Amino acid sequence: MITLTRRGVLAATTGGAALAATLAAPMVARAQGAAFRIGLILPMTGPFASTGRQIDAAVKAYLRQHGETHGGRRVEVLLRDDTGTAPDTTRRLAQELIVRERVKALAGFGLTPLALATAPLATEAKVPMVVMAAATSIIPQRSPFILRTSFTLPQATRPMAQWAARNGIRTCATLVTDYAPGIDAETAFKQSFTAAGGTIPLEVRTPLRNPDYAPFLQRVRDTAPNALFIFCPSGEGAAITKQFAERGLPQAGVRLIGTGDVLDDDILNDMGDSVLGAVTSHHYSAAHDSAENRAFLEAFRAILPNARPNFMAAGGYDGMHLIAQMLARTNGSEDGERLVAAAKGLSWMSPRGPVTIDAETRDIVQDIYIRRAERRDGQIWNIEFDRIPQVKD
Ligand code: PHB
Repeated sequence: MITLTRRGVLAATTGGAALAATLAAPMVARAQGAAFRIGLILPMTGPFASTGRQIDAAVKAYLRQHGETHGGRRVEVLLRDDTGTAPDTTRRLAQELIVRERVKALAGFGLTPLALATAPLATEAKVPMVVMAAATSIIPQRSPFILRTSFTLPQATRPMAQWAARNGIRTCATLVTDYAPGIDAETAFKQSFTAAGGTIPLEVRTPLRNPDYAPFLQRVRDTAPNALFIFCPSGEGAAITKQFAERGLPQAGVRLIGTGDVLDDDILNDMGDSVLGAVTSHHYSAAHDSAENRAFLEAFRAILPNARPNFMAAGGYDGMHLIAQMLARTNGSEDGERLVAAAKGLSWMSPRGPVTIDAETRDIVQDIYIRRAERRDGQIWNIEFDRIPQVKD
């Protein structure tokens, strides 16, 4: 039998000895009034910098709106830029934050590979890891210390497939980014759409790095389906929708549908009239009509005056709320197991609507909305017109 000790596993990771020594050290009573430190790791530069900018602003908005003290502890956020494309960098930053900065929670994680790379560290250090962005189904299974406040691709995709089948779309091609969340979206769409009687004549996967969408969209045009279902990570939607219009797909009668990642609120208003009428499914729209969302928009704009919060910002804001509640429920504990236990089963009214952290899976349960891109008061918004309540992964 192989017994993996904490020291043994940590020593196997870069710089693990230092982390092991820290963990083996006797518990030191924490100084009265010491801040509770959170390591926030985000892509602040590189191709996914909009995700970092959105989540960072949302975390700041939450703390400005609700104060910095929770469960008697002042919260201190240490922001690190992992550039979004290098899992080793994310893991190294997480390790430095745990060992040198003694953070008691990790948060952020803009893309799936970055979250997966960090999961073993959260387990070894027993540090809660709040995934605010990454959305592949499997992520929370990779560590009992992971909690998720974003969404999952199957959760967002199935309602879209069912809506398409009910609304006159008989044939639908799929175009997804070729990595874990894209495969999740493709699989979920195919299962639900064909189960409802639809046909998928073409499935294409586009590269995550430096994609050129034109040849893929030309193939879709040649296939002439009733609709094209798209998933791409936040930020990429601008290039895809531009090519969708330039390749003449609307004129060829191909409808644009997808997850809300494609018509991301951060860039939606600049996409132009060709996206009007596109239908997407997601958990958050900046146009969501509620008191909580109006308060969120106001707090967000106080931090980033010229930006509109997108679904990434909603994940960051709710992730900060979750940490605040974990502290409140444990009187400011630093014990990772107690903090995670306090998060299980928590429900609250988010700017997106009612949400719960599933006590068993530690994943978020939330309403999924079907939305249509429409111009209102001169700006383009995702207007919610249907709601599927409390969808699980
Ligand atoms: C992911 O990598 O998990 C991811 C990133 C951006 C999205 C959705 C999923 O919009």
